[in-house]
Amino acid sequence: MNLDALNKVAEAMVAPSRGILAADESTGTMKKRMDAIGVDNTEDNRRDYRELMFRSKEAMEFISGVILYDETIWQNAKDGTPLVKLIEQAGSIPGIKVDEGTRQLAGAKQGELITKGLDGLDKRLPKYYEQGARFAKWRAVIDPTNISYAGLLANAHALARYANLCQEFNIVPIVEPEVLMDADNDIDATYAVTEWVLKEVFQQLYYLNVPLEGIVLKPNMIVPGKKAAKQASVDEVAEKTIRVLKACVPSAVPGIAYLSGGQSDELATAHLSRMNEIGGFPWKMTFSYGRALQAAPQKAWGGKSENVGAAQAAFHHRARMNGLASLGKWNASLEKQAA
Ligand code: 13P
Repeated sequence: MNLDALNKVAEAMVAPSRGILAADESTGTMKKRMDAIGVDNTEDNRRDYRELMFRSKEAMEFISGVILYDETIWQNAKDGTPLVKLIEQAGSIPGIKVDEGTRQLAGAKQGELITKGLDGLDKRLPKYYEQGARFAKWRAVIDPTNISYAGLLANAHALARYANLCQEFNIVPIVEPEVLMDADNDIDATYAVTEWVLKEVFQQLYYLNVPLEGIVLKPNMIVPGKKAAKQASVDEVAEKTIRVLKACVPSAVPGIAYLSGGQSDELATAHLSRMNEIGGFPWKMTFSYGRALQAAPQKAWGGKSENVGAAQAAFHHRARMNGLASLGKWNASLEKQAA
């Protein structure tokens, strides 16, 4: 392991005014996205859509790294250029989702999930490195309304095992424990569960000797569940998120790159910007958004080649808004000047 090299990559992933594009939807998740815009979920359509983002020079200025799905990291653009090369040419770092989804955790409560993919990971990582990946992602999924210590421990331990293996192969692990926002729990329940999860994750990283200078943390923000009776203000989300992270995340971690988790595009941006405006924490804070970066370009594209320019403009707009949010410099009036 070369910790210096890992740290340089981690720092670049969270460089000011830039953040991460999570374009690592599995084929099944892409089907949902393509269905929503009336496009067939074929390999070529997935390629065309992702290619238009990676070729969007202006948007990619705000994108430090791109998380790819296994299919995409081996794919070529229409003209034969590897998609990974397009990302590198745009000055961005290719990354790879290495988890293999989730399943019911045997022996745990019904509905508690464990993330799969540790078996054989030591064989896959060097191949991904050779293909250009310099960071990876592994997502653990926690339902705040259905959690046991056994489930939490198993997920935190798997995250640490994954992080450890990535570093052995000089790949920066994005450590992603996602507390879901789909239920009806209030914001304080999200806070309490996230605190418990983060404490356990950093404990397991410590036990497995994972140097924190060589990771990036990808947490959820502290928001109430989508079905909660009471939603929270931007200030409350920003303050509670900063507070829980300060209580749990050592300052050796270079940066925090949030998932959007089902927040609206604009709220995901507003929350990030407000946190950076408040400041007073030791890490960089930026985005690692999937839906909150891609919903607009997907809609603008609609599977038609004549819409590529409009899709790139929509992607550029969201990337720029989030780039500003990573500096605490976004405000709602900027949204009206949409591309
Ligand atoms: P969302 O921003 O859509 O939550 O996706 C981020 C991600 O990579 C989840 O694993």
